[in-house]
Amino acid sequence: MNLMQSILARAKADRQRIVLPEGTEERTLLAANRLLADEIADILLIGDPSGIKKLAASRGLEHIEKATFIDPSDHPRKAAYTDLLYRLRQAKGMTPETAARLVENPLYLGCLMIKAGDADGEIAGAFNTTGDVLRPALQIIRTAPGMSSVSGAYLMFTKAEQYGEQGLLVFADCAVIPNPTAAELAEIAVTTARTTRAIAGFEPRVAMLSFSTRGSASHPMVDKVIEATRLAKERAPELLIDGELQTDAALVAGIGARKAPGSPIAGKANVLIFPSLEVGNIAYKLVERLGGAEAVGPILQGMAAPVNDLSRGCSSDDIYKMVAISANQAIGLKSNK
Ligand code: ACO
Repeated sequence: MNLMQSILARAKADRQRIVLPEGTEERTLLAANRLLADEIADILLIGDPSGIKKLAASRGLEHIEKATFIDPSDHPRKAAYTDLLYRLRQAKGMTPETAARLVENPLYLGCLMIKAGDADGEIAGAFNTTGDVLRPALQIIRTAPGMSSVSGAYLMFTKAEQYGEQGLLVFADCAVIPNPTAAELAEIAVTTARTTRAIAGFEPRVAMLSFSTRGSASHPMVDKVIEATRLAKERAPELLIDGELQTDAALVAGIGARKAPGSPIAGKANVLIFPSLEVGNIAYKLVERLGGAEAVGPILQGMAAPVNDLSRGCSSDDIYKMVAISANQAIGLKSNK
């Protein structure tokens, strides 16, 4: 069984309630139909139910009728969710009028359903921007206990089997924190190691990447990565982690041995932590487009419940896989409680 098959099997064995706020979006509906047919998750579709059903019928998506439909402008829990949103955001200046308006926004509604215990996870972003998907999640669901920041990891299924775990590597942060502090970068490393164990199923060997290896260059940007490595080691002493390293020293055995002798991970890293979102986002897209890798993610990590964002260029297959991954995250978070 390959990794994706075992993620799907785990989801199927313990079905989670996954809310899809973009219920009228065609790739989302195609994915929902397949998820319901394969019994991977219970699907909650937000959107005008008659519009969704009409679109599904026109595409022959016969399993959509097994979904739960939530009309954002008219459903039995609307008053309760409005009150919940107001209570959660009152201290930040939210008025009852703003709460009443936002509760009809599917992206807010999805997060409120999770917060109220009516859903286990959410996937959106097929037509909404990352910022619009993340903001309500950060405001309503917030970070998991012990976590202060949310970041985004990708499973990168490359064709270069000599690197990582037979070509599979985990990249982070490629989605959320534009310019992390050293402490945030350390948390990204520790959280990504946990995501690696929980979702990718292998023991992480984490490289903190830079344009310098072991002091070959000096610059405040290098100092940040060195400090982040120190903090991550302090926070998770059991973790195999090293930095600062250049990418070749992290991945290639001969170069790792030459540039970073004695490193526990140089030359065999399977988790790459990028110093900023600019680097992480550009790098994963280069590896995907020029290197022909399959990029699965971003898997958002550090949140109290899984909310995952899609690229607007995503396929229905990407949505199908991200629902299964979110279900696995939800199962993992519940078992940690
Ligand atoms: N982790 C935890 N909490 C956070 C984080 C974070 N990384 N970022 C913001 N927050 C919290 C804030 O503390 C704040 O909480 P509060 O309102 O209770 O005080 C709340 O979230 C909102 O924060 P703002 O700073 O007002 O929100 P902002 O408008 O800056 O949005 C966002 C945050 C959306 C994550 C922003 O940093 C962003 O747009 N990041 C880049 C996303 C992106 O464009 N990624 C690239 C594309 S992804 C792809 O290619 C698939």
